Formats: sequence, structure tokens, C-alpha cells
Amino acid sequence: MARPKIALIGAGQIGGTLAHLAAMKELGDVVLFDISEGTPQGKALDIAESGPVEGFDAVLKGTNDYADIAGADVCIVTAGVPRKPGMSRDDLLGINLKVMKSVGEGIKAHAPNAFVICITNPLDAMVWALQKFSGLPAEKVVGMAGVLDAGRFRHFLSLEFGVSMRDVSAFVLGGHGDTMVPLARYSTVAGIPLPDLVKMGWTTQDKLDAIVQRTRDGGAEIVGLLKTGSAFYAPASSAIEMAEAYLKDQKRVLPCAAFVKGAYGLDGLYVGVPTVIGANGIEKVIDIKLDKDEQAMFDKSVDAVKGLVEACKGIDNSLA
Ligand code: LMR
Repeated sequence: MARPKIALIGAGQIGGTLAHLAAMKELGDVVLFDISEGTPQGKALDIAESGPVEGFDAVLKGTNDYADIAGADVCIVTAGVPRKPGMSRDDLLGINLKVMKSVGEGIKAHAPNAFVICITNPLDAMVWALQKFSGLPAEKVVGMAGVLDAGRFRHFLSLEFGVSMRDVSAFVLGGHGDTMVPLARYSTVAGIPLPDLVKMGWTTQDKLDAIVQRTRDGGAEIVGLLKTGSAFYAPASSAIEMAEAYLKDQKRVLPCAAFVKGAYGLDGLYVGVPTVIGANGIEKVIDIKLDKDEQAMFDKSVDAVKGLVEACKGIDNSLA
């Protein structure tokens, strides 16, 4: 059986990390694409040369030609620019929308059967635009955000409780922006919901509120530290988890920016929700029941995403 083909669009920090992870996990052969000449070729060769040391079998190719992604099973899109300290993800909308147009057209022409995972910001609006530009089925085009945001939430919770992150589960809903909704009621330590842990005296509501806020600000915290770019290790790991769920038909329950129509009272919008990912892409959107406060936070987040989608339509008439 032929090995799966994984196309990585964008050979920056995340693209290079994705290529290394995909090869180390032997998820398939990797094509690393970028418009910058030499960068994808250099990174692909460098990673391939780590193969004999690490002991993985994967063919890596760097390219500036979209034709080389032909027949890809998975495309992970990181192309575009990251934010700088002081910027919000939304400030990238105009510049990254143009990038999504050429990427979407490249995928449409060469890899129309791929499962497409978008990482470019502002995430929810960019994945919406990428689906429109590529014309691929909505269940095959998704955004990587929830796994990353939930991963950050889990990390901070494991530090607070002094327990292994393996025993911490967390859910984050909504857009991947300042209005994201970390859901304490559906997040647990060893199956015990966070509000119950407050009642048991294991932590305080104030500490929990601070962790929720730190999760919301997780991307900006890294941008502030790095100064010249944004997070790349955790975003790459998160996208690889989604790619693996698709390639191995794992039916993983993962939060991601999926196209939601019907569930959550939405009429067709990309926003972060828990989903089941398997061989058909997004196989199910899990419609969690929200209480009044959670619903209000989710609605605010949805409104923010809708505003960005409208802004995209205002910039590019073909999206209107
Ligand atoms: C993240 O959350 O790390 C990414 O969305 C990058 C960013 O600008 O915060």
C-alpha cells in the first residue's frame, strides 16, 4: 500500500515543525511547499538527514511548485504571516486572506480529495475563506485551534493541581480569538469537573478564572516572549493530532474550527466546537448543551467570527 502523502503549505516555523513531526511519526511522505525559493528544499533535506539518526522512513520533498502536492491525502496550511507583539490575530486578516486565495486555488487544482487543516490566522475566518476558495466539501476543510487551546488549558490546569496532564481533560469552544470560551464545567481532573474541584477546596474560583484568562491569552503570551513570531511547537503538534485522526480513521473527539450548520443554533459558520474526526473528515459536530452564561460567551465569540467573515467579503468580492 502506498504511504499517505502529506502536503504542508508554508515552510516557516510551524511548517518545518510539522514536517519533522509527520516524518518522525511516519504518518506518510511529506511535501513541504513555500513560495520562498530554497527554504522548503533546505528544511526538507535537513529533516530527511535526521531520518537515519532517528530511524524513521519517510520521503521528504521541498518545493515551490503546487503541482508537487498532487494527490495529497492531507494538506496542512500555515502560509501567511504571524502577528507581532501588540497585534491581535484579527490584524492579519487582509494580508492572510490574499494568501488563502492562492493556497485555496492550489489545493483545488492539485489536491481536491485532501483533508485540509488550516492554521493561518485569524483562524476561523481564514478556514472559512480557504473552504470557499478551494471549493472542497466543508467537512474536509477544518481549522486547528481547539486542540491547541485545550492543550494550553490542560497544561495550566496540570500545573495548578500538580497532576499529570494525562489526567486532565479540557474543552474550549468558540472562535480562536480573544473571545474563545474555555468551558470549566466540561473540563475535568480524573473525571471530576473543575467547579467540583473548587467546592472540594483543591483550588479557588479566582485561580480558576486566572487560568481561563491565561488560556484565552495563550497565543499572545508566546508572541510576547518570542517577539519575532508566534507559537509553533504546540500548534504543529495539535495539527498533527488531527491529521493522524483522519489518516488512521481514529474517530477522535477533538475540538476544532468546523463548519457548523444546525448545531448550536448556527446557520453555517466555521467556529470552534467538539467534533469527531475520522476517515470522512469531520464526521460529527457534538452539540454540547450550554448554560446561560456559557451561551452568552459563545454568542459573543460567534458574533466576533461573523464580523471577520463579513470583513473578508468586503475585501474580496468573490466571497460575497
Ligand atoms: C496561537 O494561538 O499561538 C496562534 O494563534 C498564534 C497567535 O498569533 O497567537
